[in-house]
Amino acid sequence: MSFIPQGSKILRRLLKESFNGGERVKNLSLLGSTGSIGINALDVIRHHQAHFKVLALAAGRNTDLLKLQIDEFRPKVVALCDESHAAKLQRALSPSANVAVLSGPEGYREVASLRGVDMVISALSGSAGLLPTLEAIDACKDIALANKETMVMAGNIVMDKSREKGVTILPVDSEHSALFQCLAGHRPEEVKRLILTASGGPFLSATREALAAAKPADALNHPNWTMGKKITIDSASMMNKGLEVIEARWLFNIEVGRIDVLVHPQSIVHSLVEFVDGFVMAQLGVPDMRLPISYALFYPERVENAFPVLDLQKIGTLNFMEPQMDKFPCLELAYKAARTGGTMPAVLNAANEVAVDAFLRETIGFPDIAVIVGKVLTLHQAVDASTLAHILDADRWARMETRKVLESSLNREQDYPQLTGPG
Ligand SMILES: NC(=O)c1ccc[n+]([C@@H]2O[C@H](COP(=O)([O-])OP(=O)(O)OC[C@H]3O[C@@H](n4cnc5c(N)ncnc54)[C@H](OP(=O)(O)O)[C@@H]3O)[C@@H](O)[C@H]2O)c1
Repeated sequence: MSFIPQGSKILRRLLKESFNGGERVKNLSLLGSTGSIGINALDVIRHHQAHFKVLALAAGRNTDLLKLQIDEFRPKVVALCDESHAAKLQRALSPSANVAVLSGPEGYREVASLRGVDMVISALSGSAGLLPTLEAIDACKDIALANKETMVMAGNIVMDKSREKGVTILPVDSEHSALFQCLAGHRPEEVKRLILTASGGPFLSATREALAAAKPADALNHPNWTMGKKITIDSASMMNKGLEVIEARWLFNIEVGRIDVLVHPQSIVHSLVEFVDGFVMAQLGVPDMRLPISYALFYPERVENAFPVLDLQKIGTLNFMEPQMDKFPCLELAYKAARTGGTMPAVLNAANEVAVDAFLRETIGFPDIAVIVGKVLTLHQAVDASTLAHILDADRWARMETRKVLESSLNREQDYPQLTGPG
């Protein structure tokens, strides 16, 4: 067996297309169109208009940007998070805009499973991405997956369902796209380990005192990537890398013990695969999400892009170092949750979402994110994650428990001396 999805719908379709001898437009749905990945995905589509048609878009609350996207890409269906935002958009649209405006879970379901769509780009942020992504797989849509939380919460279910439905999951995360490309054509037994690179984020060289005093603006100041707020805070805490380890575990069906992390501040080497014969394959590129998005949208073809290309001569030096687990305990917590398995990764994810939100509201300090997530993990008795009901129960429980831990810790700071708040 090879890592390349040989029996995939995409390959079957490609064979059919080349047999027909014609170029075929790929119909797309985009979940999370107003976010950082969504905007980059639409830019890729803008550069390759002859190849793609956007049939549906889903956003959260940003009606202004969604309206501009409707004007440009003319989707048939759009969805927003609730009725009031849908009504606001409807008022702003001209009567000639021929688009159905939907809302809430039903709206996302429609965008994810719309008839005629070939591929769904899953780029909502956080756990909001899980159900629409599963619905897209159920509807036999291929997935360009940016929403790593889907894999962290329910990687086993996603992979089982995608095999059952003959759906291909194409990673958009730059590290997983890199691994996917390095693994192409190789058998699992040829692989010794996967090495995910991490930029180290804005706090790579920060002292513990600086970490304790860090404000959201400091943590949001990523040196190499411009991304949504949640993933940027996760990058600063290295929780993002931990979530990526769990994502890789499921995407590539490999034990957590064979997935390592290497800090690489320039974000040029996106990840590496070490093979049993001692060779290491790395994938390099400029840090621009349009590249892995384009790779996923066009897979299995490679096309010419007008995006900036890598100039190693200009870059000169690439550095690599061991991750500092003691300074960034979120990475260690993610490894622990991954090793425990079952519902523990879903609890890690939910506790982290609540803690990151509290940090962004300046209710807690930056180091408290790890303290709170660690505490919630110790309170959880993991059960198997083979059903969606178990996973959603664990997610609900973890959010409730995290809020309790937050409240009690803020009331009793002596029990949680690390909980300083940003002051
Ligand atoms: N950004 C990157 O470079 C990057 C790289 C690799 C992986 N990823 C992954 O891709 C996903 C998206 O990241 P991002 O940086 O694009 O995030 P983002 O900029 O925050 O955008 C998130 C998108 O999801 C929508 N959204 C957020 N919460 C929602 C909710 N509760 N219900 C419905 N819609 C909601 C937002 O809508 P509104 O803005 O309209 O409210 C927006 O369209 C994440 O899972 C992230 O880990 C991102």
